[in-house]
Amino acid sequence: MDQPNQHFVVDTHPGIVPAEQRTALLANPGFGKVFTDHMAIVRYSQDRGWHDARITARAPIPLDPASAVLHYAQEIFEGLKAYRAEDGGAVLFRPGENASRFRLSAERMAMPAVPEEMFVEACRLVTTTDRAWIPDSPDGSLYLRPFMFANEVFLGVKPSSEYLFLVIASPVGAYFKGGASAVSIWVSDEYVRAAPGGTGAAKYGGNYAASLKAQAEATENGCDQVVFLDAVERRWIDELGGMNVFFVFEDGSLLTPPLGGSILPGITRDSLITLARDAGRTVREEPYAIDQWAADAASGRLREAFACGTAAVITPIGTVKRRDGAFKIADGEAGPVATSLRQQLVDIQRAKAPDPHGWVQRLF
Ligand code: PLP
Ligand code: COI
Repeated sequence: MDQPNQHFVVDTHPGIVPAEQRTALLANPGFGKVFTDHMAIVRYSQDRGWHDARITARAPIPLDPASAVLHYAQEIFEGLKAYRAEDGGAVLFRPGENASRFRLSAERMAMPAVPEEMFVEACRLVTTTDRAWIPDSPDGSLYLRPFMFANEVFLGVKPSSEYLFLVIASPVGAYFKGGASAVSIWVSDEYVRAAPGGTGAAKYGGNYAASLKAQAEATENGCDQVVFLDAVERRWIDELGGMNVFFVFEDGSLLTPPLGGSILPGITRDSLITLARDAGRTVREEPYAIDQWAADAASGRLREAFACGTAAVITPIGTVKRRDGAFKIADGEAGPVATSLRQQLVDIQRAKAPDPHGWVQRLF
């Protein structure tokens, strides 16, 4: 066992993946299929609070069949990336924002707060311990997945009195098979993701379970992703299953649906609003109706649409399909605004460009 590191004991793994095998796995990791050697794990109980924080070998977690999460789905997660810098070092992008969103998600799901310093420290330590797993490739990064779940052994419906907080890491390439090329989107008329007063603004596992049927419908209809409409009027565009959405108009302005409680407050969304405004563009956070989207695409007033998120970065939307027809955005390919914002964002994330907002945290 190595020395304690702040709150964490770093208990490095003797049987790590051999270098040759790791290099082969890093050559084409895909998304979320390959995992590093270590993980962070911290226990919580009502009596002791957070305790027993360690970085240890990544391994299965024994769960009692009556663990609360298996029955009532008290689980939240985050997603952030570590990037390899040109000098061989590494950085995290806005980890404090993920820590604060995690706290809000926990509050919504009646879970205890993970102290933000502990959240960031866990991310830092997993990344530095497994630094050899950070891809060098231009599109590669180390995707960190912090999560927390209820593990009290009890079948009564109430907030659990025990939890586990973990961080695992996965070297990744592009989220979509086509990389940064345009994707097709299916409009979900039947299923909604989140309702007012519900859990849409929390990064709660159940939101993603609830999106799977609509995503399956998207796939059956030949589309890459699903876009959800609001639950009340079934008219306003909310977001995609795992990404926020932006629209670019002929005057160069941007629009993105407002944060009203039913969409996830994306950190990429926030960063792009800032970068676009820095560049002198108007960005409106306003509701946008699905029929207006179709009309603006047809008239040419709408020039581009794109999805954004940690996993997807910026992914242009080329085609939109509904039960009663389909429409294309401009020529159906990546547009100049999405392409230039993507480049600006990626250059900051990879510590290649100046970071005027202090978004990048150096690891080593
Ligand atoms: N919306 C949903 C439903 C998501 O799962 C994500 C991904 O995290 C996003 C939006 C984008 O959020 P961020 O940019 O913080 O990754
Ligand atoms: C992310 O972008 O981090 C997400 O969580 C989206 C998806 C992989 C669930």
